[in-house]
Amino acid sequence: MSSVSYEIPSETQQRLEALVDRIEANQGRLVEPAELEELQSKLNMRPAMETLPPGLSEEDFIEILKLAMLTECATDSYANVIEEQAATYASPWLERFSHDIWAPDERSHHTPYRYMFLNLGFSDAELDREIRETRERQYIHGSGDTPVHITTFGMIQEYLTDNWHGLIAGLMKNSAPEAAYIANRIKQRETLHTVWYRDMTALQVEANPGLIGHVGEALVRFKMPGQVLLPDLQNKVPGWLPGMGADFDHMTKDLVRLIHESLGGSVRRSGELLLAVAAEKGMRLGPVDPGHLRTALNRLGGPGYGLVGEALLLKMGLNSFFEDPVQGASGPAAPIHRRVEQLRGVLRGWVADRLEIEVGYESYAEA
Ligand SMILES: [Fe+2]
Ligand SMILES: [Fe+2]
Repeated sequence: MSSVSYEIPSETQQRLEALVDRIEANQGRLVEPAELEELQSKLNMRPAMETLPPGLSEEDFIEILKLAMLTECATDSYANVIEEQAATYASPWLERFSHDIWAPDERSHHTPYRYMFLNLGFSDAELDREIRETRERQYIHGSGDTPVHITTFGMIQEYLTDNWHGLIAGLMKNSAPEAAYIANRIKQRETLHTVWYRDMTALQVEANPGLIGHVGEALVRFKMPGQVLLPDLQNKVPGWLPGMGADFDHMTKDLVRLIHESLGGSVRRSGELLLAVAAEKGMRLGPVDPGHLRTALNRLGGPGYGLVGEALLLKMGLNSFFEDPVQGASGPAAPIHRRVEQLRGVLRGWVADRLEIEVGYESYAEA
């Protein structure tokens, strides 16, 4: 039996089943065999090797492509974990999603990278061996077991993978456009996966806000699968990212936005999550211990969480996510509302100034 509590009403199970139905009916364009044939017939990787940006060696480039190919080839290792946990937590919607939709899609993602290596002169035998060895390694999933842990993990993992294929495409767009095209096609698939997992989390959290603790846990314990299966390669990623042109601010904003959306777009819940994460990591919000701040906000009956969530979004430049009621207030009480909101704005700014956000990058490698 499952050891970590996870409860959602049967009505929500049905809504999740319906979401998986909708996903199944609208899977978008999978990577097609014709695209792979086209890639094989036109591919020329040499110019890409010869025009690498400063800071990236040929060896780096090979290892960057290797990490993409090998983490993608282990789809079934991940699918086994997801489907096992889905069965343990009696969540047939997740089992079905993984088995019928996600895994078949993912299984096509390593093939284009294999073609790139063949084009660069690698032998079939060598690639077969590396793929086999990676698949034989045991994938131990440490980001938490319940379906909401899995869907939270899935969202972050897919987002970072989306980013990875995009950065690779960027390295090849002028020098090997066929390769860049296919990397971008895989990226599009990962974008869809990100959104699907986000929506699954949102339905679960909406039905049971008590699951926010699990979401926080999944974020804190997050590790890229590459860290488990290919730590030597994965740990080089932070060193490669600047040369690949990674935009950290943009990624942080994307991640915060996704997390916020996975909590149903509620600033109160984002605040609650942020404090759960901060307490779990022992992060400090200015001079205040997050555990104490959480207790204080709880005592205030909770509205403070909204403020912390707003501060998080403000800090990330995502303030369009919360309305500014100062503009909209009218009627006799409007001046008081405005005063309260001004004060709230000041507090929000104060909290935002003190937030030390750590989202994402240690996720790329061992912290
Ligand atoms: Fe993939
Ligand atoms: Fe994916």
